[in-house]
Amino acid sequence: MHPWLSRLLLILLVLGGRAVLALEGVPGPDGLVVSASRPASEVGGAVLAAGGNAVDAAVATGFALAVTYPAAGNIGGGGFMIVRLPDGSATSFDFRETAPAAARPDMFLDDRGEIDPDRIEAGYLAVGVPGTVRGLALAHARLGRLPWRDLVEPAARLARDGFPISPTLAAALNRELAGPMQPFPGSLTAYGKPDGLPWLAGDQLVLADLAATLEAIAADGSDAFYTGRIAGLLAEAMAAHGGLITLADLAGYAARERPPVRGRFLGHEVISMGPPSSGGTALLQMLGMFEALGLERLAADSGEAIHLTTEIRRRAYLDRAKFLGDPDFVTMPGDQLLSRPYLKHLAAGIDRERATDSRQLAGDLVGPPCDESDETTHYSIVDAAGMAVATTVTLEGSYGSHVVAPGTGFLLNNEMGDFNRKPGQTTLSGEIGTLPNQIAPAKRMLSSMTPTIVTKDGRVVLVTGSPGGRTIINTVFDVITGVVARGLDGSAAVAAPRFHHQWLPDRLIVERGGLAPDVRRQLEALGHAVIERGSQGAAHSIWLDPQTGTPLGIADQRGPDAAAAAAPLPAVIGESSQ
Ligand code: DON
Repeated sequence: MHPWLSRLLLILLVLGGRAVLALEGVPGPDGLVVSASRPASEVGGAVLAAGGNAVDAAVATGFALAVTYPAAGNIGGGGFMIVRLPDGSATSFDFRETAPAAARPDMFLDDRGEIDPDRIEAGYLAVGVPGTVRGLALAHARLGRLPWRDLVEPAARLARDGFPISPTLAAALNRELAGPMQPFPGSLTAYGKPDGLPWLAGDQLVLADLAATLEAIAADGSDAFYTGRIAGLLAEAMAAHGGLITLADLAGYAARERPPVRGRFLGHEVISMGPPSSGGTALLQMLGMFEALGLERLAADSGEAIHLTTEIRRRAYLDRAKFLGDPDFVTMPGDQLLSRPYLKHLAAGIDRERATDSRQLAGDLVGPPCDESDETTHYSIVDAAGMAVATTVTLEGSYGSHVVAPGTGFLLNNEMGDFNRKPGQTTLSGEIGTLPNQIAPAKRMLSSMTPTIVTKDGRVVLVTGSPGGRTIINTVFDVITGVVARGLDGSAAVAAPRFHHQWLPDRLIVERGGLAPDVRRQLEALGHAVIERGSQGAAHSIWLDPQTGTPLGIADQRGPDAAAAAAPLPAVIGESSQ
């Protein structure tokens, strides 16, 4: 038995047949990386041990995830990074994908004017101009300390030498190869097992083209991706297969540094991602309404608390649909949406005895009559000096568009589907057709990613975020209220059952077994349509233990391969069980 096993406390929460194993947090006084993949966390931990700061570790972990966590780790997609510096200042990096110049608002409609899901879920047309490589390069140029090459090289090495795959990754690759990747020869070449047999857990996955791509990026910087040989291969494949992205789209892509959104919540400061993510704005709205209603005084699992938090979620998601989009294209009432009087006004409209009808709440927004997919990945980092980084990246769907352009070695996103797909059509099933998130050339599609840092008295107390499409904001809200309002420790807040309401469709979704039967009956009597689901999100977090002042890494056990790595190595001591 590993010596560290004795340090782990296994909390077994049996939730209606769903077993969630949560580890006690992994201590990391000298810095910590918590991500969806053990080898990627180890890469970040090694960078911290080598004197890199949290941004260096975030860059290295990001590239490593593109190798070891291909469902969502990426260089062919995008994401957001929040950085909080030891002096209390904070910034954010927006490397969200953009629509290519040839994109049009109706590009996902078929001949009858209906949304064609096939064009959105897979294939070249679904791909937005990738932002990750420019974004990581911008963050590094602004705040990194170690040489760029040293941060990209570990990922290139993992791709070149290979790494043993987990049972989860083996099964996912076999599903991809037999299904969604079939139409794309570049994907089959990149991810097929050389002998043509199915992958088995423990097999060594070598990604030769990806290694060459990463080596070029390590040597020549982000230009290798956006104007060099890789750009040429991408544009060529796009032109040959009905995609829109051109050399000019790639050369014109720019990541942006933006001020994060910041707000107060019960004596804490919450720092999160502003537009083009809806995450931070909606999160701060929900926390503001929570505080206005004094919900910290209610038991979290009571019918009253769940009813009122559901009403809060409903109202924030409606504002998301009405107002939010790419700030470079859309004028938004940002400050007003987060003002105390406005949030008090929203909270005052909540009926304590009755669920609000989402359609009525929206006025004339909803016309006559989708689930978002569940793949993205979040990682959290702190370094010894107290710099904290929260990063969420995505290809949108699991394995994105399922396309690897021949010779490039990496998966491309299908992020274009995050735009509103049919102008003017907002439906009870959750399709949104409002103007702010309509497709336009070079525009960023609205996101729900919510990388977030919470501080108190000038110290970081929580770094968190999650995958999960529109559920992300609710997951982050649940984790933060668990720690800040309920006084849970970080592990318990991450393990606690999660809830989701997104205005439309008008239903309250609960992790299976997360509601006591009598509370469910109470909620249904108030008018909520309650639905159970499997797990929601994967909030790989860092929480500062107030007793000891030590940061603890919490790998959310909803992500089967997640791990925390503490610096200095080799103290890699957190790992989830299958
Ligand atoms: O940016 C967004 O909000 C989505 N593309 C994220 C997709 C996602 O989280 C899917 N899964 N876990």
